[in-house]
Amino acid sequence: MVDKIKIENLSCYYNKKSVLESLNLNIVKNEILSVIGPANSGKTTFLRTLNRMNDFDVTYSRKGNVYLDGDNIFDIDAESLRRRVGMLFAMPIPLPMSIYDNITYAPKRLDLITKKSELDSIVERSLKDASLWDEVKDRLDSSAMNMSGGQQQRLCIARVLAINPEVILFDEPCSGLDPISTAKVEELMIDLKEKYTIVLVTNNVKQASRVSYTTAFFLMGKLIEIDQTGKLFISPKEKETEDYITGRFG
Ligand SMILES: Nc1ncnc2c1ncn2[C@@H]1O[C@H](COP(=O)(O)OP(=O)(O)OP(=O)(O)O)[C@@H](O)[C@H]1O
Ligand SMILES: [Mg+2]
Repeated sequence: MVDKIKIENLSCYYNKKSVLESLNLNIVKNEILSVIGPANSGKTTFLRTLNRMNDFDVTYSRKGNVYLDGDNIFDIDAESLRRRVGMLFAMPIPLPMSIYDNITYAPKRLDLITKKSELDSIVERSLKDASLWDEVKDRLDSSAMNMSGGQQQRLCIARVLAINPEVILFDEPCSGLDPISTAKVEELMIDLKEKYTIVLVTNNVKQASRVSYTTAFFLMGKLIEIDQTGKLFISPKEKETEDYITGRFG
């Protein structure tokens, strides 16, 4: 197994107040790492640090290092980092335009692709990889806003796939979805790990146990425990982990 991302002594702050403390962990290539933990434990801050989304927040600061294939992510250009590390949010927010234009928006802007045949093939590849092609191939020109919530979430996944990232960060991607749409997104994540490395923040402990190889438990800004998912759920080493997964808090 190869590590795609290495995190060394990462601490994060808002207004100098610590919200993540001395985090050390590695993320295995072509696997899914689940991050679980109660509200305010720093899960979203962790994801936003991995693709430097928090660069835009003047109250945010950090110490420590994160390496992506050996490159320190804080030394590389943020825009090129965000192409390698794509992010999905809890609420899918398609652009108010057609399904086709949603997917070609970033490739046109970032790669300056204008050739119709190239754009067509990006749309088809991204929608197929997002398990959405069969449902929408006959209505690519209709508005993305008319899709169901589950379809909108897969469209947002297709938009991330269109820029060919290496890592995909999912922040509670199923929190607004019904069980059938949730199952589709879970199956999709399992398929996607063949090509991508995935970090999944989820407040659904069962979801973590269904999809991920490794699970990390965060509590109040600290990594309490990280282990193979089965081990972490069946025989956690730390009492806090056990309390959380058995539903005693959070
Ligand atoms: N932009 C911000 N400015 C100031 N404080 C913030 C900001 N974003 C998050 N925080 C604080 O940092 C801490 C960690 O928040 P974070 O959103 O990372 O937690 P989380 O584990 O994702 O929580 P949840 O499960 O509710 O999504 C919280 O105390 C939160 O209030
Ligand atoms: Mg969060």
